[in-house]
Amino acid sequence: EAIEKGGFDHFMLKEIFEQPRSIADSMRGRVKAEEGTLQLGGLRDYLDKLAKSKRIVIIGCGTSWHAGLVAEYIFEELARIPVEVEYASEFRYRNPIIKEGDIVIAISQSGETADTLAAIELAKSKGAIIFGVCNVVGSSIARATHAGAFTHAGPEIGVASTKAFTAQVTVLTLMALAAAHRKGTLSESLFRQLLTELESIPAKVEQVLQAADKIKEIAYIFTYARNFIYLGRGLNFPVALEGALKLKEISYIHAEGYPAAEMKHGPIALIDEDMPVVVIATQDSSYEKVVSNIQEVKARKGRVIAVVTEGDTHLPGMVDFTIEIPRVHDILMPLVSVVPLQLLSYYIAVMRGRNVDQPRNLAKSVTVE
Ligand code: AGP
Repeated sequence: EAIEKGGFDHFMLKEIFEQPRSIADSMRGRVKAEEGTLQLGGLRDYLDKLAKSKRIVIIGCGTSWHAGLVAEYIFEELARIPVEVEYASEFRYRNPIIKEGDIVIAISQSGETADTLAAIELAKSKGAIIFGVCNVVGSSIARATHAGAFTHAGPEIGVASTKAFTAQVTVLTLMALAAAHRKGTLSESLFRQLLTELESIPAKVEQVLQAADKIKEIAYIFTYARNFIYLGRGLNFPVALEGALKLKEISYIHAEGYPAAEMKHGPIALIDEDMPVVVIATQDSSYEKVVSNIQEVKARKGRVIAVVTEGDTHLPGMVDFTIEIPRVHDILMPLVSVVPLQLLSYYIAVMRGRNVDQPRNLAKSVTVE
Protein backbone atom coordinates (compact mmCIF):
# COMPACT_ATOMS: atom_id res chain seq x y z
CA GLU A 1 0.00 0.00 0.00
CA ALA A 2 2.87 2.39 0.80
CA ILE A 3 4.08 1.91 -2.76
CA GLU A 4 0.61 2.58 -4.17
CA LYS A 5 0.54 5.83 -2.22
CA GLY A 6 3.66 6.90 -4.06
CA GLY A 7 5.37 8.39 -1.02
CA PHE A 8 2.30 10.33 0.15
CA ASP A 9 0.75 9.71 3.58
CA HIS A 10 -2.71 9.16 2.13
CA PHE A 11 -4.34 8.39 -1.20
CA MET A 12 -6.29 11.62 -0.93
CA LEU A 13 -3.12 13.72 -0.78
CA LYS A 14 -1.62 11.77 -3.66
CA GLU A 15 -4.78 12.34 -5.68
CA ILE A 16 -4.82 16.07 -4.90
CA PHE A 17 -1.23 16.29 -6.13
CA GLU A 18 -2.06 14.26 -9.25
CA GLN A 19 -4.43 16.93 -10.54
CA PRO A 20 -2.05 18.69 -12.91
CA ARG A 21 -1.70 15.34 -14.67
CA SER A 22 -5.33 14.19 -14.44
CA ILE A 23 -6.59 17.50 -15.82
CA ALA A 24 -4.06 17.28 -18.65
CA ASP A 25 -5.06 13.65 -19.29
CA SER A 26 -8.71 14.67 -19.52
CA MET A 27 -7.81 17.13 -22.30
CA ARG A 28 -5.25 14.96 -24.08
CA GLY A 29 -6.08 14.31 -27.73
CA ARG A 30 -9.12 16.56 -27.37
CA VAL A 31 -7.80 20.10 -27.05
CA LYS A 32 -5.35 21.45 -29.60
CA ALA A 33 -5.07 25.11 -28.80
CA GLU A 34 -2.45 25.88 -31.43
CA GLU A 35 -4.67 24.53 -34.18
CA GLY A 36 -7.76 25.96 -32.54
CA THR A 37 -9.52 22.59 -32.46
CA LEU A 38 -11.49 20.66 -29.89
CA GLN A 39 -12.64 17.11 -30.45
CA LEU A 40 -14.69 14.86 -28.24
CA GLY A 41 -14.74 11.51 -30.02
CA GLY A 42 -17.48 10.02 -27.87
CA LEU A 43 -19.86 12.86 -28.70
CA ARG A 44 -19.09 13.22 -32.41
CA ASP A 45 -22.42 11.89 -33.66
CA TYR A 46 -24.38 13.79 -31.04
CA LEU A 47 -22.74 17.21 -31.02
CA ASP A 48 -25.40 18.72 -33.28
CA LYS A 49 -28.16 17.46 -31.01
CA LEU A 50 -26.38 18.93 -27.99
CA ALA A 51 -25.79 22.27 -29.71
CA LYS A 52 -29.41 22.48 -30.86
CA SER A 53 -30.96 21.32 -27.62
CA LYS A 54 -33.52 23.58 -25.97
CA ARG A 55 -32.75 22.39 -22.49
CA ILE A 56 -30.19 20.26 -20.66
CA VAL A 57 -30.81 18.41 -17.41
CA ILE A 58 -27.73 17.43 -15.43
CA ILE A 59 -27.94 14.70 -12.78
CA GLY A 60 -25.46 13.46 -10.20
CA CYS A 61 -24.84 13.07 -6.47
CA GLY A 62 -22.42 14.71 -4.05
CA THR A 63 -19.29 16.04 -5.66
CA SER A 64 -20.53 15.03 -9.10
CA TRP A 65 -23.61 17.20 -8.51
CA HIS A 66 -21.29 20.09 -7.66
CA ALA A 67 -19.46 19.58 -10.96
CA GLY A 68 -22.92 19.78 -12.56
CA LEU A 69 -23.54 23.17 -10.93
CA VAL A 70 -20.28 24.45 -12.38
CA ALA A 71 -21.33 23.13 -15.78
CA GLU A 72 -24.67 24.91 -15.51
CA TYR A 73 -22.92 28.28 -15.40
CA ILE A 74 -20.61 27.39 -18.28
CA PHE A 75 -23.25 25.92 -20.60
CA GLU A 76 -25.60 28.83 -20.02
CA GLU A 77 -22.87 31.44 -20.40
CA LEU A 78 -21.22 30.05 -23.51
CA ALA A 79 -23.89 28.03 -25.30
CA ARG A 80 -26.95 29.93 -24.05
CA ILE A 81 -28.78 26.65 -23.37
CA PRO A 82 -30.95 26.55 -20.22
CA VAL A 83 -29.64 23.99 -17.76
CA GLU A 84 -31.21 22.40 -14.70
CA VAL A 85 -29.07 20.50 -12.23
CA GLU A 86 -30.82 17.85 -10.18
CA TYR A 87 -29.83 15.47 -7.43
CA ALA A 88 -30.32 12.07 -9.04
CA SER A 89 -32.07 10.88 -5.87
CA GLU A 90 -34.72 13.60 -6.18
CA PHE A 91 -35.08 13.43 -9.94
CA ARG A 92 -35.90 9.74 -9.91
CA TYR A 93 -38.87 10.09 -7.58
CA ARG A 94 -40.58 13.22 -8.76
CA ASN A 95 -42.05 12.40 -12.15
CA PRO A 96 -39.71 14.86 -13.88
CA ILE A 97 -40.74 16.62 -17.08
CA ILE A 98 -38.59 15.07 -19.77
CA LYS A 99 -39.58 15.14 -23.42
CA GLU A 100 -38.45 13.05 -26.35
CA GLY A 101 -35.01 14.28 -27.44
CA ASP A 102 -34.19 16.24 -24.25
CA ILE A 103 -30.55 16.03 -23.28
CA VAL A 104 -29.62 14.56 -19.90
CA ILE A 105 -26.00 14.60 -18.74
CA ALA A 106 -25.24 12.09 -15.98
CA ILE A 107 -22.06 12.68 -14.00
CA SER A 108 -20.47 9.93 -11.91
CA GLN A 109 -16.91 9.16 -10.94
CA SER A 110 -17.57 5.50 -10.14
CA GLY A 111 -20.27 4.94 -12.72
CA GLU A 112 -22.03 2.76 -10.14
CA THR A 113 -24.09 5.19 -8.04
CA ALA A 114 -27.53 3.60 -7.65
CA ASP A 115 -29.57 6.81 -7.66
CA THR A 116 -27.81 8.15 -10.75
CA LEU A 117 -28.29 4.88 -12.58
CA ALA A 118 -32.00 4.79 -11.71
CA ALA A 119 -32.40 8.42 -12.82
CA ILE A 120 -30.79 7.56 -16.16
CA GLU A 121 -33.18 4.65 -16.72
CA LEU A 122 -36.14 6.88 -15.93
CA ALA A 123 -34.98 9.66 -18.30
CA LYS A 124 -34.30 7.06 -20.98
CA SER A 125 -37.80 5.63 -20.66
CA LYS A 126 -39.13 9.14 -21.39
CA GLY A 127 -37.09 9.41 -24.59
CA ALA A 128 -34.13 11.51 -23.40
CA ILE A 129 -30.70 11.31 -24.97
CA ILE A 130 -28.27 10.50 -22.17
CA PHE A 131 -24.64 11.58 -22.11
CA GLY A 132 -22.33 10.21 -19.47
CA VAL A 133 -19.34 11.86 -17.81
CA CYS A 134 -17.76 8.93 -16.00
CA ASN A 135 -14.32 8.02 -14.76
CA VAL A 136 -14.64 4.26 -14.86
CA VAL A 137 -14.68 2.70 -18.31
CA GLY A 138 -17.10 -0.22 -18.52
CA SER A 139 -19.05 0.89 -15.43
CA SER A 140 -22.84 0.47 -15.26
CA ILE A 141 -23.51 4.17 -15.91
CA ALA A 142 -21.05 4.35 -18.80
CA ARG A 143 -22.84 1.39 -20.37
CA ALA A 144 -26.32 2.80 -19.76
CA THR A 145 -25.70 6.08 -21.60
CA HIS A 146 -26.04 6.77 -25.33
CA ALA A 147 -22.79 8.69 -25.64
CA GLY A 148 -20.43 10.68 -23.49
CA ALA A 149 -16.91 11.65 -22.63
CA PHE A 150 -14.78 9.87 -20.07
CA THR A 151 -12.80 11.74 -17.48
CA HIS A 152 -9.27 10.40 -17.49
CA ALA A 153 -8.50 10.98 -13.83
CA GLY A 154 -7.21 7.46 -13.23
CA PRO A 155 -8.40 5.35 -10.28
CA GLU A 156 -9.57 7.43 -7.31
CA ILE A 157 -9.12 5.54 -4.04
CA GLY A 158 -9.73 8.21 -1.38
CA VAL A 159 -13.42 8.33 -0.48
CA ALA A 160 -13.35 12.12 -0.73
CA SER A 161 -13.41 12.95 -4.40
CA THR A 162 -10.72 15.39 -5.55
CA LYS A 163 -9.09 14.69 -8.88
CA ALA A 164 -12.35 13.24 -10.23
CA PHE A 165 -14.06 16.60 -9.58
CA THR A 166 -11.51 18.64 -11.50
CA ALA A 167 -11.54 16.06 -14.32
CA GLN A 168 -15.34 16.26 -14.46
CA VAL A 169 -15.26 20.05 -14.60
CA THR A 170 -12.61 19.87 -17.33
CA VAL A 171 -14.66 17.49 -19.49
CA LEU A 172 -17.92 19.38 -18.93
CA THR A 173 -16.15 22.60 -19.92
CA LEU A 174 -14.98 20.91 -23.12
CA MET A 175 -18.55 19.77 -23.82
CA ALA A 176 -19.91 23.29 -23.31
CA LEU A 177 -17.16 24.79 -25.47
CA ALA A 178 -17.81 22.28 -28.25
CA ALA A 179 -21.57 22.91 -28.13
CA ALA A 180 -21.15 26.70 -28.06
CA HIS A 181 -18.66 26.61 -30.92
CA ARG A 182 -20.96 24.45 -33.03
CA LYS A 183 -23.95 26.62 -32.17
CA GLY A 184 -22.12 29.85 -32.98
CA THR A 185 -22.78 31.52 -29.63
CA LEU A 186 -19.05 31.69 -28.90
CA SER A 187 -16.73 33.89 -30.94
CA GLU A 188 -13.79 32.19 -32.62
CA SER A 189 -11.40 34.38 -30.66
CA LEU A 190 -12.88 33.54 -27.25
CA PHE A 191 -13.03 29.87 -28.25
CA ARG A 192 -9.31 29.91 -29.06
CA GLN A 193 -8.48 31.94 -25.97
CA LEU A 194 -10.28 29.44 -23.72
CA LEU A 195 -8.51 26.49 -25.36
CA THR A 196 -5.17 28.16 -24.73
CA GLU A 197 -6.13 28.98 -21.16
CA LEU A 198 -7.27 25.39 -20.61
CA GLU A 199 -3.86 24.14 -21.63
CA SER A 200 -2.30 26.39 -19.00
CA ILE A 201 -4.47 25.03 -16.16
CA PRO A 202 -2.23 22.07 -15.16
CA ALA A 203 0.70 24.45 -14.56
CA LYS A 204 -1.52 26.79 -12.57
CA VAL A 205 -2.78 23.93 -10.39
CA GLU A 206 0.86 22.95 -9.86
CA GLN A 207 1.49 26.48 -8.62
CA VAL A 208 -1.37 26.20 -6.08
CA LEU A 209 0.06 22.91 -4.82
CA GLN A 210 3.25 24.74 -3.94
CA ALA A 211 1.26 26.62 -1.31
CA ALA A 212 0.56 23.33 0.52
CA ASP A 213 2.81 24.18 3.48
CA LYS A 214 1.19 27.55 3.99
CA ILE A 215 -2.26 25.92 3.85
CA LYS A 216 -1.08 23.37 6.39
CA GLU A 217 -0.16 26.16 8.80
CA ILE A 218 -3.59 27.73 8.42
CA ALA A 219 -5.19 24.31 8.93
CA TYR A 220 -3.27 23.93 12.17
CA ILE A 221 -4.80 27.13 13.54
CA PHE A 222 -8.34 25.96 12.76
CA THR A 223 -8.00 22.29 13.67
CA TYR A 224 -10.41 22.52 16.58
CA ALA A 225 -13.08 24.69 14.99
CA ARG A 226 -16.57 23.27 15.44
CA ASN A 227 -18.15 24.90 12.42
CA PHE A 228 -17.08 26.45 9.15
CA ILE A 229 -18.82 28.59 6.55
CA TYR A 230 -17.71 28.65 2.91
CA LEU A 231 -18.72 31.52 0.65
CA GLY A 232 -18.36 32.14 -3.07
CA ARG A 233 -20.28 33.76 -5.89
CA GLY A 234 -20.91 32.78 -9.49
CA LEU A 235 -18.73 29.88 -10.52
CA ASN A 236 -17.12 29.93 -7.10
CA PHE A 237 -20.44 29.17 -5.37
CA PRO A 238 -20.35 25.46 -6.30
CA VAL A 239 -16.69 25.51 -5.22
CA ALA A 240 -17.82 26.76 -1.80
CA LEU A 241 -20.27 23.85 -1.59
CA GLU A 242 -17.53 21.43 -2.59
CA GLY A 243 -15.09 22.88 -0.04
CA ALA A 244 -17.70 22.46 2.72
CA LEU A 245 -18.49 18.89 1.66
CA LYS A 246 -14.79 17.94 1.70
CA LEU A 247 -14.37 19.30 5.21
CA LYS A 248 -17.52 17.58 6.51
CA GLU A 249 -16.76 14.16 5.13
CA ILE A 250 -13.17 13.79 6.23
CA SER A 251 -12.83 15.96 9.36
CA TYR A 252 -16.43 15.61 10.70
CA ILE A 253 -16.58 19.37 11.25
CA HIS A 254 -19.93 20.88 10.44
CA ALA A 255 -19.55 23.12 7.39
CA GLU A 256 -21.95 24.94 5.11
CA GLY A 257 -21.44 26.46 1.70
CA TYR A 258 -23.45 29.51 0.66
CA PRO A 259 -23.57 32.00 -2.19
CA ALA A 260 -21.88 34.94 -0.42
CA ALA A 261 -24.81 37.31 -0.83
CA GLU A 262 -27.25 34.85 0.74
CA MET A 263 -25.49 35.24 4.06
CA LYS A 264 -27.55 38.24 5.04
CA HIS A 265 -30.72 36.17 4.62
CA GLY A 266 -29.91 34.01 7.62
CA PRO A 267 -26.46 32.49 8.10
CA ILE A 268 -24.95 35.82 9.13
CA ALA A 269 -26.58 35.22 12.52
CA LEU A 270 -24.01 32.44 13.04
CA ILE A 271 -21.00 34.72 12.70
CA ASP A 272 -18.94 35.49 15.77
CA GLU A 273 -15.26 35.28 16.72
CA ASP A 274 -15.47 31.48 16.78
CA MET A 275 -16.68 31.14 13.21
CA PRO A 276 -14.07 30.57 10.52
CA VAL A 277 -15.33 31.73 7.12
CA VAL A 278 -13.57 30.58 3.98
CA VAL A 279 -14.25 33.01 1.15
CA ILE A 280 -13.28 32.45 -2.46
CA ALA A 281 -12.54 36.05 -3.36
CA THR A 282 -10.77 35.90 -6.68
CA GLN A 283 -10.59 38.97 -8.90
CA ASP A 284 -13.46 38.16 -11.23
CA SER A 285 -16.65 40.00 -12.12
CA SER A 286 -18.08 39.63 -8.59
CA TYR A 287 -14.91 40.63 -6.73
CA GLU A 288 -16.23 43.97 -5.41
CA LYS A 289 -19.40 42.30 -4.15
CA VAL A 290 -17.44 39.55 -2.41
CA VAL A 291 -15.22 42.16 -0.75
CA SER A 292 -18.28 43.79 0.75
CA ASN A 293 -19.53 40.38 1.93
CA ILE A 294 -16.16 39.93 3.66
CA GLN A 295 -16.59 43.32 5.35
CA GLU A 296 -19.93 42.10 6.71
CA VAL A 297 -18.21 39.04 8.20
CA LYS A 298 -15.32 41.05 9.67
CA ALA A 299 -17.74 43.56 11.22
CA ARG A 300 -19.14 40.61 13.21
CA LYS A 301 -15.66 39.39 14.19
CA GLY A 302 -15.72 36.30 11.97
CA ARG A 303 -12.30 34.90 11.09
CA VAL A 304 -11.77 35.03 7.35
CA ILE A 305 -9.56 32.80 5.26
CA ALA A 306 -9.67 34.21 1.74
CA VAL A 307 -8.62 32.51 -1.47
CA VAL A 308 -7.37 35.46 -3.52
CA THR A 309 -5.83 36.16 -6.89
CA GLU A 310 -2.05 36.51 -6.72
CA GLY A 311 -1.00 40.12 -6.45
CA ASP A 312 -4.19 41.18 -4.63
CA THR A 313 -2.99 43.96 -2.35
CA HIS A 314 -6.38 44.89 -0.94
CA LEU A 315 -7.63 41.75 0.82
CA PRO A 316 -4.51 40.75 2.81
CA GLY A 317 -5.00 43.83 5.00
CA MET A 318 -8.67 43.05 5.54
CA VAL A 319 -8.80 39.34 6.32
CA ASP A 320 -7.03 37.00 8.75
CA PHE A 321 -5.36 34.71 6.21
CA THR A 322 -4.99 34.67 2.46
CA ILE A 323 -4.14 31.85 0.08
CA GLU A 324 -3.02 33.08 -3.33
CA ILE A 325 -3.94 31.36 -6.56
CA PRO A 326 -2.89 32.35 -10.08
CA ARG A 327 -5.06 34.48 -12.33
CA VAL A 328 -7.24 32.40 -14.68
CA HIS A 329 -10.16 33.17 -16.96
CA ASP A 330 -13.41 33.43 -14.92
CA ILE A 331 -14.92 30.43 -16.74
CA LEU A 332 -12.05 28.15 -15.69
CA MET A 333 -11.69 29.42 -12.13
CA PRO A 334 -13.19 26.37 -10.28
CA LEU A 335 -10.43 24.13 -11.62
CA VAL A 336 -7.92 26.16 -9.67
CA SER A 337 -9.91 27.64 -6.76
CA VAL A 338 -11.07 24.26 -5.46
CA VAL A 339 -7.52 22.99 -4.92
CA PRO A 340 -6.64 25.04 -1.79
CA LEU A 341 -9.95 23.97 -0.25
CA GLN A 342 -9.13 20.31 -0.83
CA LEU A 343 -5.77 20.81 0.88
CA LEU A 344 -7.28 22.75 3.78
CA SER A 345 -9.77 19.94 4.52
CA TYR A 346 -7.08 17.32 4.16
CA TYR A 347 -4.70 18.93 6.64
CA ILE A 348 -7.44 19.70 9.17
CA ALA A 349 -8.63 16.08 9.03
CA VAL A 350 -5.10 14.72 9.43
CA MET A 351 -4.45 17.00 12.42
CA ARG A 352 -7.68 15.78 13.99
CA GLY A 353 -6.46 12.23 13.55
CA ARG A 354 -9.22 11.20 11.16
CA ASN A 355 -9.14 8.26 8.81
CA VAL A 356 -8.85 10.50 5.77
CA ASP A 357 -9.04 7.88 3.05
CA GLN A 358 -11.90 5.97 4.63
CA PRO A 359 -14.04 8.29 6.70
CA ARG A 360 -16.66 6.77 8.97
CA ASN A 361 -20.08 5.91 7.54
CA LEU A 362 -19.02 6.50 3.94
CA ALA A 363 -18.35 4.20 0.99
CA LYS A 364 -16.49 5.11 -2.17
CA SER A 365 -19.44 4.31 -4.34
CA VAL A 366 -22.99 4.31 -3.10
CA THR A 367 -24.48 1.33 -4.87
CA VAL A 368 -27.54 1.11 -2.64
CA GLU A 369 -30.38 3.53 -2.28
C1 AGP B 1 -17.45 13.06 -2.64
O1 AGP B 1 -16.31 13.42 -1.97
C2 AGP B 1 -18.23 11.96 -2.10
N1 AGP B 1 -17.57 10.96 -1.43
C3 AGP B 1 -19.56 11.65 -2.76
O2 AGP B 1 -20.35 12.79 -2.56
C4 AGP B 1 -19.58 11.28 -4.26
O3 AGP B 1 -19.20 12.36 -5.04
C5 AGP B 1 -20.98 10.79 -4.64
O4 AGP B 1 -21.31 9.65 -3.89
C6 AGP B 1 -21.14 10.49 -6.12
O5 AGP B 1 -20.32 9.45 -6.54
P1 AGP B 1 -20.09 9.16 -8.05
O6 AGP B 1 -19.46 10.34 -8.68
O7 AGP B 1 -19.21 7.95 -8.10
O8 AGP B 1 -21.44 8.89 -8.69
